Amino acid sequence: MRAAVCSDYGTPEVITIEARLSPPLEAGQIRIRIESAAVNFSDVLLIANTYQVSVPTPFTPGSEFAGVVVEVSDGVAAVAVGDRVTGTGFVGAFAEEIIIASDKLTLRRIPEGVETRTAAAFGVAHRTAYHTLRSVARLKSGDELIVLGAGGGVGIAAVQLGVALGATVTAVASSTQKLDVAASYGASHLVNHRTDDLRTALKAALPQGADIVADPVGGDLSEPALRALRPGGRFVTIGYASGVIPKIPLNLVLVKGVQVNGFQFKDIPPEEFRRNEAELTELLVSGRAVPHIGAEFPLDKTADALRMVADGQAIGKVLIDLTA
Ligand SMILES: NC(=O)c1ccc[n+]([C@@H]2O[C@H](COP(=O)([O-])OP(=O)(O)OC[C@H]3O[C@@H](n4cnc5c(N)ncnc54)[C@H](OP(=O)(O)O)[C@@H]3O)[C@@H](O)[C@H]2O)c1
Repeated sequence: MRAAVCSDYGTPEVITIEARLSPPLEAGQIRIRIESAAVNFSDVLLIANTYQVSVPTPFTPGSEFAGVVVEVSDGVAAVAVGDRVTGTGFVGAFAEEIIIASDKLTLRRIPEGVETRTAAAFGVAHRTAYHTLRSVARLKSGDELIVLGAGGGVGIAAVQLGVALGATVTAVASSTQKLDVAASYGASHLVNHRTDDLRTALKAALPQGADIVADPVGGDLSEPALRALRPGGRFVTIGYASGVIPKIPLNLVLVKGVQVNGFQFKDIPPEEFRRNEAELTELLVSGRAVPHIGAEFPLDKTADALRMVADGQAIGKVLIDLTA
């Protein structure tokens, strides 16, 4: 089988494609033939060794995949050969197959009627956006929601899901192309932070202020977005794709009477987590939240796929097609 390999930390261009032997399964393991894998910003950081956690080289990057179970070892009952599944892990997804331990099962069955590539794209980004909006920001129908990085994976998901939950969405992104896609998923106000002053543009779009800011970007965008909140508004910091962790004057939080929260999966109480996941699956199956696949690359172009994400050029999700 072929796999993308990171032998030395660095830019996406360090990735090579290598042929590997498929090892026999050990007790409790499952082998999945991957058909599609999604690229996440964290993959870029892991390859550069700038993520919160370091993975020793050599390793196969890729944290989200969808495919078919092709082999299970004796005693594994959770899945069967032929099941279509998606999974998230840390590494290993940019390969024609992956072996997963059943006791660390992060596999989910792909619902009937959902394409494999759609399932691959509907993972971390949509789940991050949904748990953020539902459980951290406590979004209600009628809320005004500002989404930063609205053309990115988490951003487009937040636009779609905010609209599905009844919010009026203001999308902030760096290009007309990204904003057009956000508009196609229901964003009502569009702000190009490259051509417009963000603080002024948000004031004009939302004179009464916003209820929620979802921020996967950080950097210079966070403070003007926080300033656009009305009293009682909630700012959720999700990530720092800009590469800059913003420093916000704390008096702003006091003076404006707003809340600042971070999103991490582990902080969502288990019962809410299950409820959110069930609601999210229903949104996918009903076609109300279908991921936007901006680009697909064959395995031997994995470095190009990672480069697109590293440069902030991706619109929605970028996939690696393992069937090509
Ligand atoms: N807390 C969590 O559990 C969690 C979960 C998932 C993701 N995250 C984090 O959330 C962030 C966004 O993830 P994503 O999947 O949405 O990423 P993405 O698809 O690459 O989108 C990130 C967006 O950030 C903006 N950006 C600004 N400066 C950039 C730069 N120098 N390089 C790249 N992008 C830049 C771009 O928007 P504009 O061009 O419009 O400015 C881009 O569309 C990442 O930091 C990721 O690690 C956190």
